[in-house]
Amino acid sequence: MSSEVTPATTRKLRVMSGMRVTGRLHIGHYWGTLQNWTKLQDEYECFFGAMDWHGMTTAYKSPKEIAPWTREMIAEFIAWGVDPEKVTLFVQSRVPEHLELFMIFANMIPMGWLERVNTWKDAIEEMKANDTHNLGRFAYPVLQAADIAIYRAQKVPVGADQVSHLELAREIVRRFNHLYKAKLPEMSPLLTEIPLVPGLDGRKMSKSYGNTLYLTEDSEKDVKKKVNLMVTDPARVRREDPGEPTKCSVYGYHKLYSTAEDLQWVEEGCRSAGIGCGDCKGRLAANIEKLSQGPREKKKELLNNPGLLDSIIDAGCEKARKEAQKTLEIVRSNMKW
Ligand code: TRP
Ligand code: SF4
Repeated sequence: MSSEVTPATTRKLRVMSGMRVTGRLHIGHYWGTLQNWTKLQDEYECFFGAMDWHGMTTAYKSPKEIAPWTREMIAEFIAWGVDPEKVTLFVQSRVPEHLELFMIFANMIPMGWLERVNTWKDAIEEMKANDTHNLGRFAYPVLQAADIAIYRAQKVPVGADQVSHLELAREIVRRFNHLYKAKLPEMSPLLTEIPLVPGLDGRKMSKSYGNTLYLTEDSEKDVKKKVNLMVTDPARVRREDPGEPTKCSVYGYHKLYSTAEDLQWVEEGCRSAGIGCGDCKGRLAANIEKLSQGPREKKKELLNNPGLLDSIIDAGCEKARKEAQKTLEIVRSNMKW
């Protein structure tokens, strides 16, 4: 075996992604993000973070919630298969270099660039409505650009809703490279097909609608209860009325959690009125439980062993910080600062 350092060309591409800390995770977080991360971790060099500064842009009135949510988020990542041996798992606020690079970027980009981001107008309305009309919230996409650039990541797995943020990030890096004759990598999206997971009532899943199914915080009993309350195809008024699964959120969830065999059972049984909605929901709840039981236990184990969890978080943050410091050194030398 040669002892040579792996040449850059054969090195894995670097991926960075993060999840905003907003409270406990619901099933949309798994199907939208975590499941994808567990696939990427074998193929790329990954940096995954719990983004607590981004959480703070809206939770600044109750900061004491942020720390426990953040710990729990990391435990949840691991419980659902993100492997701290394979990826660098970190907490954003524990790597202060994010904020330094953010400020460098903030000085460098015209306000007009932010106003052009297509989430801007919606954001303003939302911000006025919930008292988050603050500078930090406006600068959200700039911090996001710094999150990625601080690790010199090339690829960012995001959903379609985040693509405009990524475009801005790329423009920022381009401007940086142009101004300071630097070579920070221009990041690009790793677009993955992310299934849309609606809430229990068919509307967008949101804490404020009370229609969320939590990943591990809902017990087996909670899951059963919540699934039972799900809205079904309104055409099935009576047991003997046939239904159309594609008009039913229960079927949408089956597509995430159930085997091909169970799916066929639902499709045929629903259309022929061979099964009742109660049967259908019972099978769904059982399949959700099958997938969630292991992670629920794993998360409990981690939270009951704070020393272990802390050591995992500490090690991840330290690794992340080393890389972030390296980037800042490069950045400062580019800037001759
Ligand atoms: N904005 C992302 C979200 O709402 C979270 C996030 C923060 C992020 N920084 C990032 C995602 C950097 C990818 C890369 O979920
Ligand atoms: Fe929905 Fe299942 Fe009832 Fe069909 S049988 S309407 S898919 S809950």
